[in-house]
Amino acid sequence: MVKDAVATVLDPSSIRWISFSHFEADECGALREWQTIAPDSVAACSLVSKEVSVDDVVALRPSRAMADGECLETGRFSFQFLRTPNVPHCWDASLLFEQTGRTLFCSDLFHQNGDVEPSTSSDVVGRFRQMLLDYEAGPFGGYLQYSDTTGKVLAQLADLAPETLAVMHGSSFVGDGRQALMDLSVAMRETLDGA
Ligand SMILES: [Fe+2]
Ligand SMILES: [Fe+2]
Repeated sequence: MVKDAVATVLDPSSIRWISFSHFEADECGALREWQTIAPDSVAACSLVSKEVSVDDVVALRPSRAMADGECLETGRFSFQFLRTPNVPHCWDASLLFEQTGRTLFCSDLFHQNGDVEPSTSSDVVGRFRQMLLDYEAGPFGGYLQYSDTTGKVLAQLADLAPETLAVMHGSSFVGDGRQALMDLSVAMRETLDGA
């Protein structure tokens, strides 16, 4: 299903770069299959992802370890790599900021439950806060954590002033990304600090 959707945008066999935030099945579990379809593709990820898990478990060929702040140029787009340990979660976490269109690829940040629209300009932080409350009350508690470090990372992301927040689980947000990230930080602190 995802492959068919990708094929509406470009020939899947021509993919050169595959990136993701952290080593989890929903982030990179299909890397081997994608690299089989795209014989010249290379995974771009954090050094910790590469060394601790990705090259040993899911990559068909050596991954490219990105340095914090380094840009991956693809021709039309420039993806800045941001090392963000434990944001959204996991030691190896990172995020990408596409500088041309000012799009932040958010991974699990702004996660919303339910069958929601692909993108919206309405507030998504309320949905995110509800997801956190639901998860904390059930067997998926501990999904995200909040500390002073988390707050600093989210402030740095806000300073990028993204115009689109590309959300992995839920609606992507088009609008004032700076304010949305500051609101997200408040929602995480109020819901999770000391949880
Ligand atoms: Fe995750
Ligand atoms: Fe996820």
